[in-house]
Amino acid sequence: MSDAVVPAQASPEADILSALGARSIVLVGMMGVGKSTIGRRMAARLKLPFVDADTEIEAAAGMTIPEIFERHGEQHFRDGEVRVIARLLEGGPVVLATGGGAFMREETRNRIAAKAVSIWLRADHDVIMRRVRRRADRPLLQTADPEGTVTRLLTEREPVYGKANLTIASRDVPHDKIVEECIETLHAYLCSPPPADVASAVR
Ligand code: S3P
Repeated sequence: MSDAVVPAQASPEADILSALGARSIVLVGMMGVGKSTIGRRMAARLKLPFVDADTEIEAAAGMTIPEIFERHGEQHFRDGEVRVIARLLEGGPVVLATGGGAFMREETRNRIAAKAVSIWLRADHDVIMRRVRRRADRPLLQTADPEGTVTRLLTEREPVYGKANLTIASRDVPHDKIVEECIETLHAYLCSPPPADVASAVR
């Protein structure tokens, strides 16, 4: 038998990890689209640490998000969010789930573009409404008309979320199906050889 070293079995996950280097994977999108659930499962598949920006902000502040909003206001929360995400991106590679408003800050978008690959988990208004109704801990939705608030936020935010590198439709299918689509899309984005005409132009 030959003594040649057999290379480790290639897998989409291994390819993605090596293409990422120190970059992270950042999930962006509205409240209720499943950033934390999908992010946690994706991290397990890729054997990367999972971090949730909202949880980290709460730990840094020693308060829950509703408490931060109530005691200090949204602006204070947003400023903390910028700082916490900047810190988390320095510790990559990780899979990072961001709060729904984080990607609206240009500073954060630029940092994510430099240090990560971003995925917008996009869901329809109805899917979002069904999911956010289950929890009452989102200060922005403590309004007389949460449905109208979600509509307004979606109108403001969707063009900005669309600046993410990749978009995946989050919908009512098993989570692992969405995770699989994220892995396939990341693999195509990070690991596909460039088309022949681009390759020859580069040469
Ligand atoms: C917010 C979304 C929340 C949290 C905060 C504000 C937003 O995170 O950061 O309540 O502006 O959309 P999730 O998207 O994880 O719910």
